Amino acid sequence: MKKTFLSLLLLCSLPVLSQDNGQDTFVQNLLSQMTLEEKIGQLNLSAGEDFSTGQAQSTNIAGKIKNGQITGIFNIKGVDKIREMQRIAVEESRLKIPLIFGMDVIHGYETVFPIPLGLASTWNMEAIEQSARIAALEASADGIHWTFSPMVDIARDPRWGRIAEGSGEDPFLGGAVAQAMVKGYQGDNTYTGNDRIMACVKHYALYGASEAGRDYNTVDMSRIRMFNEYMYPYQAAVEAGAESVMASFNEVDGVPATANKWLMTDILRNTWHLKGFIVTDYTGIEEMTAHGIGDLQTVSARALDAGIDMDMVSEGFLSTLAQSFKEGKITEEQINTACYRVLVAKYKLGLFTDPYKFCDTQRAKTQIYTPEHRSIARKIAAESFVLLKNADDVLPLKKQGTIAVIGPMANTRSNILGAWSVSADLSKPATLVEGLKEVSGKNTRIVYAKGSNLTEDAEYEKRSTGTGHTLYRDNQTNEQLLNEALSAAQKADVIVAALGEASEMSGESSSRTDLNIPDVQQDLLKALLKTGKPVVLVLFTGRPLTLTWEQENVPAILNVWHGGSEAAGAIGDVLFGDVNPGGKLVATFPKNVGQIPLYYNHKNTGRPLPEGKWFEKYRSNYLDVDNEPLYPFGYGLSYTQFEYSDVKLSSSTMEANGNLTASVTVTNKGQRAGAEVVQLYIRDREGSVTRPVKELKGFEKVFIEAGQSKEITFQITPGLLKFYNYHLEYVLEPGEFDVMIGGNSRDVKTIRFTLH
Ligand code: NOJ
Repeated sequence: MKKTFLSLLLLCSLPVLSQDNGQDTFVQNLLSQMTLEEKIGQLNLSAGEDFSTGQAQSTNIAGKIKNGQITGIFNIKGVDKIREMQRIAVEESRLKIPLIFGMDVIHGYETVFPIPLGLASTWNMEAIEQSARIAALEASADGIHWTFSPMVDIARDPRWGRIAEGSGEDPFLGGAVAQAMVKGYQGDNTYTGNDRIMACVKHYALYGASEAGRDYNTVDMSRIRMFNEYMYPYQAAVEAGAESVMASFNEVDGVPATANKWLMTDILRNTWHLKGFIVTDYTGIEEMTAHGIGDLQTVSARALDAGIDMDMVSEGFLSTLAQSFKEGKITEEQINTACYRVLVAKYKLGLFTDPYKFCDTQRAKTQIYTPEHRSIARKIAAESFVLLKNADDVLPLKKQGTIAVIGPMANTRSNILGAWSVSADLSKPATLVEGLKEVSGKNTRIVYAKGSNLTEDAEYEKRSTGTGHTLYRDNQTNEQLLNEALSAAQKADVIVAALGEASEMSGESSSRTDLNIPDVQQDLLKALLKTGKPVVLVLFTGRPLTLTWEQENVPAILNVWHGGSEAAGAIGDVLFGDVNPGGKLVATFPKNVGQIPLYYNHKNTGRPLPEGKWFEKYRSNYLDVDNEPLYPFGYGLSYTQFEYSDVKLSSSTMEANGNLTASVTVTNKGQRAGAEVVQLYIRDREGSVTRPVKELKGFEKVFIEAGQSKEITFQITPGLLKFYNYHLEYVLEPGEFDVMIGGNSRDVKTIRFTLH
């Protein structure tokens, strides 16, 4: 038996309410003046009519504000509208309690940054924090003081469209991104000025593990997997001081998260010590009737009892809690606790002192979509792109000759933004054609043809281009569109094929079972390759796609995700070599859909495939495809090449209270300066429970001039070696560990040490 160092037990308890004096006195005093109905009103959040993210709608909002039946509104845009709603609350309701205004500010406000999966691919935490800071500046200038972000759900199934909204498959990276975003939105959590907004960590918990990648589907997972592989990003965000958390739609252990007391109270409140409030997702309470755990009154009482403080859109709290109280099913104490937390959030924001604090029309006019914000967004977008292939140095392109830009994604504004760009002006972003013209200058001729629609099936295209993100379907036949493209291609020296997914083809309710580039676009690509001209595939996507054919046949592939409002110029910057690409994948790209879920930090199994083989009978493998991904986690090329020395360790042994230094020298062997993400992985070679074949435990993004070398060091501390054991104790177990360092999760150099 191994020795175990027990350092943290999951279940311990702490007082729930804040003890801050001025705040506490104010809020308790207010609570004492409130009727039960007014308290319940503070738990009811309504949807504004500007953009809706669910089927149910909120009605008679003004009337309910007057009656003290609404605590806040989300997804209404514009400081004038917000001011008017706030006026009704503070002038016409009995207690004049200000409203809280939320919005899905997910990857920027009007200045839109890359989709979160792209943002994470920068591996640049300062840049990610800065993007959240700018989002906060712009949103708060327009009246918003609460955002439903960061989305930190670990996702290993690219069929799930919402993989676009998070940081991919790794909890260590996901936790770092979550913390950077919370900091970017909230700053130091004091809200003394009016340019910080409250974060809401979502979707707690495990929403990314829905079966078969189908949105809102069942989740079923062992607790050991939960804590070792999925929970850390939520916890990290709470530890960073996130002021609120959103419950997820899915069930956990057979109970919808919204009514799951173990999740909300035992873990979130009592173990992680969340101080802020918990809100449901859109109609999350009412949906529990469809989950089949009771009628609206029952599920509303269960949600409150589980620890939910605020009901988004269901009006289950509003319409049933008073009755449940009368029937003794819930206590006034429970309502008081939830109401207290909501009022504290409003107090912290400073809304009781000045309800119009975020309604400065001057700021709204001058601080949104500024040249400065846009130029930062352009830089960050370029940093998020991942160069997947670049045979014979097709890239970068020269700023001369004729370039044919072809494909359904070449001439679109709204589809360059990405899912959840709800507050953006869809008409503002430059198209790719415009971006390339701007960057390539007057010595280059750019010609354009659409070449194909998004998909052969018009109905599928309609479903994939909703909420204003149209691609203006062309009624010509596939052949006519192709002929136009080929005649444009004939004139060109190089072809840029702008293909992939439209913005709304990923995100909420956008699951797919086939992850190829859609049919007609693939036909177009094949025809373009047949011209014999060099083809660069500029891939737009919100998720890993299956690109096995493309990897074999297309000389260069630049994955640009959906890069936000400044993506077009940023793509030009990278294609023409003004910026050297350095993004690295944060989610594995499989070879085919049948391999899913495919992730780098998997377990070894009892029958792993021997090194160097792709199939062996009675081993854990497939008959028709090997186990390897097409592009592994952490992968991405550059216009230069980086070489890694062997890894050195400061010692081959480590004590339980000691630490080690691992170091490596990275040399830029090419002709250009570039950035490299140096990644540290660790494998625990033997544990009391099975351990993954490797886990990311550190990373550093370094910029290295051509021909130069840099030594990178990582501290290996006991904290990096701990995990949750069978009893869910967070432990450090002695034994052998492999330290692996490299430029992606596959190509690493390894060294071993022993922990005593
Ligand atoms: C539903 C989504 O799941 C969630 O992410 C979003 O914040 C809410 N709708 C509000 O729009």
